[in-house]
Amino acid sequence: MIPKSGNRFSDKIMLGTMTARQRISRGYGMKKILASLALLGLVAAGIGATGTGASAQEEAHNEAAPTHFPIDEPKEMDWSFAGPFGTYDKAQLQRGLKVYKEVCSACHSMNLVAFRTLEGLGYSDAQIKTLAAEYTIHDGPNDAGDMFDRPGKPSDHFPPPFPNEEAAAAANGGAAPPDMSLLAKARGVERGFPRFVFDIFTQYAQGGPDYIHSLLTGYDQQPPAGMVIPEGTHYNPYFLSGVSLKMPKPLSDGQVTYDDGAPQTVDQYSRDVSAFLMWAAEPHLEDRKKTGFRVLVFLLLFGALVYLTKRKVWAGVAH
Ligand code: HEC
Repeated sequence: MIPKSGNRFSDKIMLGTMTARQRISRGYGMKKILASLALLGLVAAGIGATGTGASAQEEAHNEAAPTHFPIDEPKEMDWSFAGPFGTYDKAQLQRGLKVYKEVCSACHSMNLVAFRTLEGLGYSDAQIKTLAAEYTIHDGPNDAGDMFDRPGKPSDHFPPPFPNEEAAAAANGGAAPPDMSLLAKARGVERGFPRFVFDIFTQYAQGGPDYIHSLLTGYDQQPPAGMVIPEGTHYNPYFLSGVSLKMPKPLSDGQVTYDDGAPQTVDQYSRDVSAFLMWAAEPHLEDRKKTGFRVLVFLLLFGALVYLTKRKVWAGVAH
């Protein structure tokens, strides 16, 4: 192609006689800056592309010895409590509590959750009393200085399955099952660029439940050939800190009986218990979101009023 050399030539001559300011005002400076920025971007993208290409190749080579965890990213699920107007699905939370009571509580404590707070799941005071009384609480000392057992009260917390962390670890092959009170907020997989930027706008804060659901449903997969799975551990490509963990697959189809007709599958149990754990970690999520929305509406209205006031105050001043 023949370049429009005439134009370019005359441009060059003109550029030579212009001051820097003129150049910028005529758009030459800006164009140059933009062009160099674009070039920088291209170079960076190129480096990025070759970088990911290389690491993808490496992965293909060493599937049996992965260098980053989790091996698979957690699946993003639809949660009723997602987004700015999210609310908990009480029926789901009640099912999740049932899964925790019948399965997870055999190994995992939930020390920070009191029975009385279960009213957030839609239970009445009487129901909570009955539920608390099903538990035996180790209390004391009494007047004689002895510890004693008594039935639970609404003000009690869920009793732990093991007397101390050492006992919990000893019963589980050396790894103590973590306390579940805040687990849904304590776990989550880094989202990386650019997703964490979008997350600000979509208000993504479900990393914990997404992770727990994927972990619980991620047990049935076969490890790649040649991968070394330490004895007494179980392969799970969603586990955050290694190829396998000490927790055996806790759920199987039909294990917990639901009386509201929800499917009795590992997938459904995992969703329900993850939602329940989110509630346990953040029982006031709905209030927080409601207040946040009201504050934003207030700020918008207030901002508009301040602007109108400013216009009124300065209306008579020449400027
Ligand atoms: C047989 C005992 C046992 C049962 C039952 C059990 N867990 Fe665990 N869980 C463990 C142990 C042990 C660990 C620690 C594993 C490790 O660090 O290797 C663990 C760890 C976890 C973790 C944390 C993983 C991480 O990233 O550190 C989650 C989440 C979890 N369990 C969820 C559950 C849920 C939900 C249930 C009920 C459906 C459940 N567990 C039932 C023993 C159990």
